[in-house]
Amino acid sequence: MDNEFLPHPAVIRRIVPLSPDTKLYHLEFKDPRRQKDFTFQPGQFVELSLAGLGEAPISLTSSPLTRDHFQLCIKRVGRLTDFLDSLGEGRTVAVRGPYGNGFPLEQLYGFDLVFVAGGIGLAPLRSLITTVLAEPHKFGTLQIFYGARNPDEIIFREELQQWQQHADVQVTVDRGDESWQGPVGYVSQLVEQAEVAPDSSAVICGPPAMFKPTVDKLREKGVEKVNVSISAERRMKCGIGKCGNCIAGGEVYVCLEGPVFTYEDYQRISGSF
Ligand SMILES: Cc1cc2nc3c(=O)[nH]c(=O)nc-3n(C[C@H](O)[C@H](O)[C@H](O)COP(=O)(O)OP(=O)(O)OC[C@H]3O[C@@H](n4cnc5c(N)ncnc54)[C@H](O)[C@@H]3O)c2cc1C
Ligand code: FES
Repeated sequence: MDNEFLPHPAVIRRIVPLSPDTKLYHLEFKDPRRQKDFTFQPGQFVELSLAGLGEAPISLTSSPLTRDHFQLCIKRVGRLTDFLDSLGEGRTVAVRGPYGNGFPLEQLYGFDLVFVAGGIGLAPLRSLITTVLAEPHKFGTLQIFYGARNPDEIIFREELQQWQQHADVQVTVDRGDESWQGPVGYVSQLVEQAEVAPDSSAVICGPPAMFKPTVDKLREKGVEKVNVSISAERRMKCGIGKCGNCIAGGEVYVCLEGPVFTYEDYQRISGSF
């Protein structure tokens, strides 16, 4: 029987630069049986390891319907991600998982959807967006609001344009430049200016600083807190409830019970986030 806690070698098949510090990695497990059996829910994460550098929790960004490989979108921020950035196609990394609860997909059935992402938060949301767009009859309308710090840092540019065919997609930047013609300001301001149906269900991914302003704007539109989910970034090590690194609110193992929470649950435990 497979041990779900064991890292498996995976080959980097393709690398797509998305911004100056962020790349999309297409990975395929070396063991074809492992690749064939690898399934996950949007919002789950894997632990990616490099010899001598430890591990990093990284969200799955591809659709679970893509079965011949999986994709991770990784921003260069420190030791492990710097070294990964220097690796080329054909190199091998180790991956274990998937872990965490993922987005509450079935609870979104029938709802108008409002997805709000900031920065690298678009990575986990992309997995959910592609899943929703593959079965649009199960959901109502889709609105996607995305904010990046500046135009250079916008990731998944082409997809943001493609999604416009099926969804209301709006992108803003904190600071514009001479090339930028779109809105300037925080992503919560896009939500404030948009028409949002009060019975929508919302999913928010990104830096914790955007959660409250975004939820405040959603609530002004009548969206219930119980219909808002967030994906909480938290320092994690083991990813499997063993090390205690991710405990929040004194008792919640974010790696097991999260990273996705209703906003109400997030507020309850967020004192220690
Ligand atoms: C559930 C989850 C999903 C994630 N998904 C993604 C993803 O899809 N793409 C992506 O690029 N990153 C993601 N991250 C963040 C990623 O795990 C960290 O950026 C990575 O571990 C940094 O490792 P490093 O050795 O390169 O940096 P380090 O040298 O360890 O640290 C460099 C900087 O990154 C910060 N940092 C380190 N670890 C974390 C962490 N776990 N969370 C937040 N900040 C951290 C440190 O405070 C420091 O400022 C996710 C984190 C979690 C918890
Ligand atoms: S990351 Fe180790 S217990 Fe959650």
